[in-house]
Amino acid sequence: MKTIEDLDVAGKRVFVRADLNVPLDGSTITDDGRIRAVAPTIAKLLARGAKVVVASHLGRPKGEPDPKFSLAPVAARLGEILGRPVAFATDTVGGSATAAVAALGEGEVALLENLRFNAGETSKDDAERKAFAEQLAALADLYVGDGFGAVHRKHASVFDLPALLPHAAGDLIATEVGVLKRLTDEVARPYVVVLGGAKVSDKLGVIDNLLKKADRILIGGGMAYTFLKAKGHEVGISLLQADQIPTVLDYLKRAEETGVEFVLPVDVLVSAEFPDLKTKAPADFETVDADGIPADKEGLDIGPKTRELFAAKLADAGTVFWNGPMGVFEHPDYAGGTSAVAQALVDSDAFTVVGGGDSAAAVRILGFDETKFGHISTGGGASLEYLEGKQLPGLTALEG
Ligand code: 3PG
Repeated sequence: MKTIEDLDVAGKRVFVRADLNVPLDGSTITDDGRIRAVAPTIAKLLARGAKVVVASHLGRPKGEPDPKFSLAPVAARLGEILGRPVAFATDTVGGSATAAVAALGEGEVALLENLRFNAGETSKDDAERKAFAEQLAALADLYVGDGFGAVHRKHASVFDLPALLPHAAGDLIATEVGVLKRLTDEVARPYVVVLGGAKVSDKLGVIDNLLKKADRILIGGGMAYTFLKAKGHEVGISLLQADQIPTVLDYLKRAEETGVEFVLPVDVLVSAEFPDLKTKAPADFETVDADGIPADKEGLDIGPKTRELFAAKLADAGTVFWNGPMGVFEHPDYAGGTSAVAQALVDSDAFTVVGGGDSAAAVRILGFDETKFGHISTGGGASLEYLEGKQLPGLTALEG
């Protein structure tokens, strides 16, 4: 894979495919981690005299403009981080984009509007995607792929566009891939994996593969209740994917056969009501053992005994990969489990990797110092699919 050092960028229009898909509350960015992560690549290209055209998706609009998903707030924040103005095109390949790119001088940068406002970006139809990629290609001389969080998507700007322009991987992708290689090829043991988040089905592929690689797998978050149910426990009205129980049972059996230690919650915080994340009004909850969840209550965080247990299972780790919060961390009463895991990683001497998405945002929102972790990935789904052993279209395209 070529890097940006291999490209002669001075005076050239360089298309940087970033992943600026940041969480928004209205037009307020609640976690700017992904913007900060790609800024060094952009700054480096600008310092070398490139005319930089940045593009990204945000959220999942339906192939047409939707103001809720505008990248305008991101343009403003990117400008603050880079310390220079960022021109904003109000479309992707229309008059505004063409004019913004034509107006760029050397060392200047423009951001295009959300790529997913054009149906061609995510189309399953190869010809439709390619047609959009060709329109994007007309805006640039060179392509830099640095949207690590989207490399698992076979989308026009990720997969088809690099084939049309001389291309290289940006510094963020190079770093992310280097870290994931360390988790697959050169693992320091014990290798402990912590998985959380709402859905078991999102994590099945990775558990399948990690059963061959990890020494211990700790399960928290909403997905834990499917495991607890599979073990025969009552889970009340907790999140449950009943159709996944046979698969989960198979994993538990395989883990026993191969000596991989599966660690499930031993206690949980439960409530009859999901908390109000807007007002963050105090929640009415109780702590119960994991085999004693009342029928009319749902589990919303791992309990204190589980936090201690998980910290103990992490203490001697050589490598840790963590993906997915342990509870509804957006509410202060249910943030304790996620905080406890983050703290255990901070306290550990292991090489610690926080796999993108919600867990990366949680670490920052809960006020942890990012430098205390080995690596905080910008890719949630992308890092999981890499660890599943899948080919990622955005990386394949950069290799070609
Ligand atoms: C992510 O947040 O995981 C990436 O930005 C990809 O977004 P997507 O799941 O909507 O394709």
